[in-house]
Amino acid sequence: MLKGRSLIEPGNFSQEELEGLFSLAEKIEDDPSYLRESCRGKLLAALFFEPSTRTRLSFEAAMLRLGGSCLGFAEPGSSSAAKGESLADTIRTVSSYADAIVMRNPKEGAALLASRFSSVPVINAGDGGHHHPTQTLTDLLTIRRIRGTTENLIIGFCGDLKFGRTVHSLANALSRYPGVRMIFISPPELTVPEYIKEMLNKEKIPCGEAERLEEVISELDVLYMTRVQRERFFNEEDYIRLKDFYILTAEKMQGAKKDMIVLHPLPRVNEIAAEVDSDERAVYFRQAKYGMYVRMALLASVLGAV
Ligand code: CP
Repeated sequence: MLKGRSLIEPGNFSQEELEGLFSLAEKIEDDPSYLRESCRGKLLAALFFEPSTRTRLSFEAAMLRLGGSCLGFAEPGSSSAAKGESLADTIRTVSSYADAIVMRNPKEGAALLASRFSSVPVINAGDGGHHHPTQTLTDLLTIRRIRGTTENLIIGFCGDLKFGRTVHSLANALSRYPGVRMIFISPPELTVPEYIKEMLNKEKIPCGEAERLEEVISELDVLYMTRVQRERFFNEEDYIRLKDFYILTAEKMQGAKKDMIVLHPLPRVNEIAAEVDSDERAVYFRQAKYGMYVRMALLASVLGAV
């Protein structure tokens, strides 16, 4: 059903389609040989106009594990974008070489624009501070796999909720699950954008806001930590003032439920102390691995291999 479809934001896929992807990812995790050669002969173009470790490499690993091949660039300086080529022309060209395109770009709306000029499916790997839908697939699969459900949970989003595109995408996707409550924990300068609040209000999702993590950590089932997005700040002074506003420590974890899980899209800078890594509730490195399984499921589906 997903064959030939682009993924620009989480709402592009129905709940039924998302459930199908998660079931497929779980099958792949349980049996690594499943779908192993299903994309043989297919090519994925990975166009990264911004830095990435997890998204780019997990997409490439996913494609290679499915038996397909990858081409692309990891920074725009090595492409003709550096000579002034428009995104539309780049996409028209690359879509004549590859069977699917995964793209990260600093401009909000770039993925949607690319999908309009592409003859093959476009997967948004992050467009500025807007959306990061495959991180959302990763996050939902992690919660489902470890907590057993994505329903009736209290999720705390903590950190840079203004520029953090993973937060915007995940809040959007979680609003479709029954019984979910959200608490947004941020300094006043980095609160979640109004359009997200309006969307949640319209969907009648119970939401709260807090400035101090310690005040609300005991209520949470899932704590979603985020990095302060230095690359989106207009001046360095503001970044320096806000960058260490939240640091999750072992002491703070003592105030959390025994079964609360800590997610982070990564990369982390200072916002989670290394001492937390050994806490079994810290699942962010497992989360990064789930990202590869769900991207395998996505690529196999979009390329018509299942
Ligand atoms: N989570 C995430 O997008 O990580 P990268 O920036 O390393 O791809």
